[in-house]
This record gives sequence, C-alpha cells and structure tokens, in this order.
Amino acid sequence: MKTYVVGNWKLNFTVGESSIYLHKLMKALPVHRGMEVVVAPSTIALQPLSLQIDRHKIKLATQNGFYRDYGAFTGETSFSQLRGMVDYAIIGHSERRYIFGEDEKFIQKKVAAAIRNKITPILCIGETESERAFGETADVIRDQLASGLSQVGDDELDKIVIAYEPVWAISSVKSAKLATPDEVAEVVRLIRGALREIYGKDAAENVPVLFGGSVNASNAGSYLTVPGVNGLLIGGASLILGEFVDIIEIAKRVRV
Ligand code: PGA
Repeated sequence: MKTYVVGNWKLNFTVGESSIYLHKLMKALPVHRGMEVVVAPSTIALQPLSLQIDRHKIKLATQNGFYRDYGAFTGETSFSQLRGMVDYAIIGHSERRYIFGEDEKFIQKKVAAAIRNKITPILCIGETESERAFGETADVIRDQLASGLSQVGDDELDKIVIAYEPVWAISSVKSAKLATPDEVAEVVRLIRGALREIYGKDAAENVPVLFGGSVNASNAGSYLTVPGVNGLLIGGASLILGEFVDIIEIAKRVRV
C-alpha cells in the first residue's frame, strides 16, 4: 500500500501563494511510486492549481464539497463541479463537525457524493477530549465510521481513505496535546476491527488509515511506524514548505 502524506492548508494562502508553494513543492519532489503526496488548498485555488499540478508527483484534495449537484444552495460548491479537478476530498474534519455543525447524516451524504463523482473521500474521525475522558473513544470511533460509511458499498471500499484525528491533538485546539504512538495504535486497531465487522477481513486491511494531530517533522517518524498507519494528515506543519518536504522524506525513509 502507498504511504500518504496529505497537507491540509485550511483557510491559509492566497491563490498566488498556493501556486508558488505548489511550484516549489513539485521542484523539490521526485516522482515516487510508493508515495501519495496530496495538498488541500482552499476552494478558489483548486481550479488554477489543477491546471498546474503534475499528478505523477502530487494529487489535489478539496477541503469541502456539497452533496447535491446543483440547485438553490447559496455559497456551496458541489462534488460534481469538482469532478475531474481534484482526486480527494477531506470529509468529516472536526472543524467542519464542530465549527460548522456538520452532523453524521450530512457527512455520509458527502462521502457518497464524492465517490459518485470519482473523488476519494478522506473520512476524518476522532474523539474529543471529554469523550476520551469519559471512556467513550471506542464508541465514538465505531459510530463515526459506521455512519460515515453507511452509503458505501462493499465494492466501493477501495475508494475510501480514513484519517484518525483525535480532536484534542489538533494543533489549533486550545491546550492541544500530542497523542502517543501507543494511543494512536490502539485506536487504529479499533478502526480496522470496525472495518472488519462491516466489510470483512481483506477489505479492512486494504483501507489506508492516516493519522493527524500536531504532526511535524520531529514526530512524523514515530507515527508512521505505528502498526496499521499508512500515512499522515498534516495541518499547521504543512504550511511550511521545508517542513512538509522533510516529512515526505521521513515517510520515504521509514516506510517505502
Ligand atoms: P494540525 O491539523 O496538524 O495542525 O494539528 C491537522 C488537521 O486538522 O487536519
């Protein structure tokens, strides 16, 4: 399985800055078959970057998308409009769940709409600090996974990427803490177990599972060697080009 390094730029960079970053990143990276490097700029940068990108080296992700194709939905961009422009879609990110109030129904429709439009969902799941404190982590993970994938058929599981992002470890959260590799390993085991229950053994092993939450060049290696982890979803550290490139190099060294 490939090793994924995904940069989530969130609400950062103008279109011009995004384009310069991409240009420099493409120069810095050789083509590498074992790696899947993905960047997720803001929606307005997707179209120009899709014309600029060398897809042998880097893929493009949208940070959002709407599940209906067209209609009276002011301010939305549909997955059908993004079709052909992006390869991946980040769906269910904790910032969408908790700042923008996206619920499970909304998220499962987005997952289905992305797949329908040949865009691979990166479904983000993860417990909050209080859910962990109350011992609810396993239930939250199982529920988010089962619900997020409820419209995904057996034959579509190969079009899914899961990202485990404990909300309490995301760098922008006040008093964010680093997850330990053991904590990550335990939840990744849970995720694979839940996938096995829903889809069967082989299918569960073939779904890429990423980790995200304050990943940087100093800790990337420790997360990439957690059993069952196939890559990283990186916010803050992906904004620094040199650090993002360092993380890609580390990923190649430890995994490929
Ligand atoms: P972070 O963000 O790396 O800044 O913690 C990760 C994410 O929100 O996807």
